[in-house]
Amino acid sequence: MCGIVGVVSSQNVNEKLFKGLANLEYRGYDSVGMCFLTNNKFNIKKGVGKLEEVHKKLDFLNSSGSIGIGHCRWSTHGGVTKKNAHPHVDCGNRISVVHNGIIENYSELKDELIKKGHKFYSQTDTEVIAHLIEDNLRNNGIEEAVRVSLNKIEGSYALGILFADEPDKLIGARNESPLIVGLGDKENFIASDVPSILSYTNKIIYLEDKEIVVLTKNSHKVIGLDGKEIIKKINTINWSAEAAEKGGYGHFMMKEIHEQPVAIANTLNERLRNGNVQFEKEFGLSDDYLRKVKRIVIVACGTSWHAGLVGEFMLEELARIPTEVEYASEFRYRHPILDKDTLVIAISQSGETADTISALKEAKKYGVKTLAICNVMGSSITRISDGVIYTRAGPEIGVASTKAFTTQLAVLYLLTIKLSKLRKTLNEKQIRDMISGIRKIPLQLQSVLDEDTEILKCAEFFSNKPNSIYLGRGVNFPIALEGALKLKEVSYIHAEGYPAAEMKHGPIALIDKNMPVFFIAPHDIFTYKKVLGNIEEVKARGGMIFAVATEGDKEIPKKAKRTIFIPKTLYTLSSILASVPLQLLAYHIAEKLGRDVDRPRSLAKTVTVE
Ligand code: M6R
Repeated sequence: MCGIVGVVSSQNVNEKLFKGLANLEYRGYDSVGMCFLTNNKFNIKKGVGKLEEVHKKLDFLNSSGSIGIGHCRWSTHGGVTKKNAHPHVDCGNRISVVHNGIIENYSELKDELIKKGHKFYSQTDTEVIAHLIEDNLRNNGIEEAVRVSLNKIEGSYALGILFADEPDKLIGARNESPLIVGLGDKENFIASDVPSILSYTNKIIYLEDKEIVVLTKNSHKVIGLDGKEIIKKINTINWSAEAAEKGGYGHFMMKEIHEQPVAIANTLNERLRNGNVQFEKEFGLSDDYLRKVKRIVIVACGTSWHAGLVGEFMLEELARIPTEVEYASEFRYRHPILDKDTLVIAISQSGETADTISALKEAKKYGVKTLAICNVMGSSITRISDGVIYTRAGPEIGVASTKAFTTQLAVLYLLTIKLSKLRKTLNEKQIRDMISGIRKIPLQLQSVLDEDTEILKCAEFFSNKPNSIYLGRGVNFPIALEGALKLKEVSYIHAEGYPAAEMKHGPIALIDKNMPVFFIAPHDIFTYKKVLGNIEEVKARGGMIFAVATEGDKEIPKKAKRTIFIPKTLYTLSSILASVPLQLLAYHIAEKLGRDVDRPRSLAKTVTVE
């Protein structure tokens, strides 16, 4: 996920590009770049780091031009380097391109273009676009060259394109990546989202897939990839700039909860092929090695530690590999027992958590192989590890982890499929069922999000209670822990998670009519009936029961005050679906209590101290 912005105006565009990118930084912040066009020449400034950091070195505001494009990057193809930062140009330095998306056929196109004599400077898929347009410009005008080129491209793109020889025109295009057009007074814009330009105009055109826009400061024209002109509706936006930044949601946390269907789809993208799981080359661990692994140790903190516990369940149950999950902060002080057949997996959203980095370094002293499951490209943990699987959740701004957690679960599930297949612990039919199960998850998540009104009603009961308990079993015991952590961190209400059957060994003494108890009780062949018994035990003591249950369950609604339904899925995958109602519950309770949901007291998004 990257952010792009472009402006064509009668005035200097430096400030508008700068502010636009500042608003888009949530989309990516590993590098940033801008291109200004003056006197038929490009002035490109780009570098590695956040906007402010690069600005300190390059002074973006000390640039001039009445037309320009800008980009903030969340790397996908090519490492985090200045060369790979956008904009990218063609051989003649006459075409400048910023891009958000993934060009799937870029290596074929690149080979063809190299054969024709084009020289490439970066490892990105984006650079192909600049050279392809250059190639097609030999026989066409600029609009036609863009159109012909885009017809050859497969994949997703939102593009901003400048031509040094046509200094009045800014071209944008979209396919499966967001791009909007803003119409101002003697100036026009393209951007990845509305908020980034909302201070300058609220007249917005939403581009659809396979549409190209040609802007001058006084005009706009939209054409399809077939070259036909399309008349578009101009929308007037009434959001305040601040609300809009959050896509119309009250908080980033809520926005990120709602991004989960897309985040999981991105995490799966191109990894499920021919009845198997294939990770990218950064995965770095050979099949031979994976067949021989005798034990897995997972190190992580907080929510990522909970993901590790779900991973333990999956890896032991399905891939039959003994797995332990360690708090990263404890691991390094315990003289762990590790040998060459142990794989150490570090799970971290940020890749910068100090405790997890230290645990990983400790593990490496024993000469074991290490694998990172991480959301941030190029972060410390990914650099230290032998291999990496990225979670592709996109930037997570809210301190409470939501989409990062469920994408971690999705990655652990994919890894379990890969290991189960390699070690033949599951047959082909079981593998196929696992794959088809996870493919359904993005759509099923959407239907869980649609239960929000019911969840809001549950929040009414929790918000005036000082304590609460979350109970689950098997793969959903860690989800109970995670539900309790979400509530604690955003609402400051004390909450505990337990394995449901453990209740009777002590915590049941806490139950009375003032104690809300949330059961995570999807239907399964292992423990469902026992959980019904645990519900009765709580009910007998007057506890207020709430539950997550599987659609069609007739028993639980008879016992619970409110039931949130999740769609039928495989048992292991119920952990992903059941997480979402608990995130929404914590959010609504915190909101009712007027908490600072995105920046809860005493917490930081990334804990870089031990
Ligand atoms: O970036 P990491 O995943 O390594 O962060 C670990 C924890 O600090 C983090 O999960 C924390 O518990 C979150 N605030 C939970 O919402």
